[in-house]
Amino acid sequence: EKGGYDHFMLKEIYEQPRALRDTLKGRISHTRDKVVLDEIKMTAKEIKNIKRIVITACGTAYHAGLVGKYVIEQMVRIPVEVDIASEFRYRDPLIDKETLVVVVSQSGETADTLAALREARRRGARVVAITNVIASSVAREADDIIYTWAGPEISVASTKAYTTQLVAIYLLALFLAQERKTMAAGNIKEILDELKALYSKVQEVLDNDQPIKEFAEKYCRHEDAFFLGRGLDYAVALEGSLKLKEISYIHAEAYAAGELKHGTLALIVENIPVIALATQQSLFEKMVSNIKEVKARDASVIAVAMQGHTEVEKVADQVIYIPKTHPVLAPIITVIPLQLLAYYMAVNRGCDVDKPRNLAKSVTVE
Ligand code: F6R
Repeated sequence: EKGGYDHFMLKEIYEQPRALRDTLKGRISHTRDKVVLDEIKMTAKEIKNIKRIVITACGTAYHAGLVGKYVIEQMVRIPVEVDIASEFRYRDPLIDKETLVVVVSQSGETADTLAALREARRRGARVVAITNVIASSVAREADDIIYTWAGPEISVASTKAYTTQLVAIYLLALFLAQERKTMAAGNIKEILDELKALYSKVQEVLDNDQPIKEFAEKYCRHEDAFFLGRGLDYAVALEGSLKLKEISYIHAEAYAAGELKHGTLALIVENIPVIALATQQSLFEKMVSNIKEVKARDASVIAVAMQGHTEVEKVADQVIYIPKTHPVLAPIITVIPLQLLAYYMAVNRGCDVDKPRNLAKSVTVE
């Protein structure tokens, strides 16, 4: 049932090209320039009246939501807040009829996420659910549902659910941009074309796992690791850090690279593994300076950058190049080496990858 893989997690990591393709299927017009989201039943007027968007979720789904904030704000120019569901539900949240609430949940059964959904609806907000499980509680109670077509995710650590949640978020953002005319048609088409090209690029990264295996072998005995990034890379750094923690039990922290100087730099000592994400062109030079800062303290840096950005080789110990894509879509590719890194670190440490200690796949109690 693991399809020849040692663990469900690895199988699910390798299923991502298929899962991404399935999640996009039927959601791009035949003319290739429009998002088709018939599952969103909002009227044109309702879409026009949205004043704020709040995304709420737990864990990895929350990290997908963080990507959503950057993407929706950029494409739709509506303010977006992202909130952890267990915080949102008890915070007496500021929600009204002009707020669109997006809940993200692989299982659709997470207690806090479901409670957040109910709280949002009680206050008159319209709720769009992004979920992987048909007829799950979240799906049944939301106003609109965008299903991800990842297929069953068995491993506790979420991988293909996250990348397909990102696809759903991109589609929602592009759909809102299209309906509110906040993006030129040509730009929408450009991103749609890139979205369709993503699965083969993800496959390319999966086929190039050797440098990650080597890094994992070399650094698996460390007890601390740091993930750095700016902009969308920061959101991905948080997800990479969570993955590493939960399955390898290595203490990992993700930092917005600009925050280093405000405290974290004190923890950077000789040989500490630092995973530096530098895929965002507009922030590339800034990331190169941050890498220099940690290298000056003798950290061991593995960087993730887009092909062509070879400048990073001069500052990092090792570079993983990801295929070029539109910077806004980079998270779907960038997270792949981080998933593999967490996996191989955990395997080298002899951890129970699919069933990490103390964790359950679906958190149906608070
Ligand atoms: C981490 C992980 C968890 C889940 C979280 C939410 O790898 O799997 O953090 O993302 O428990 O679960 P869902 O998406 O089912 O609501």
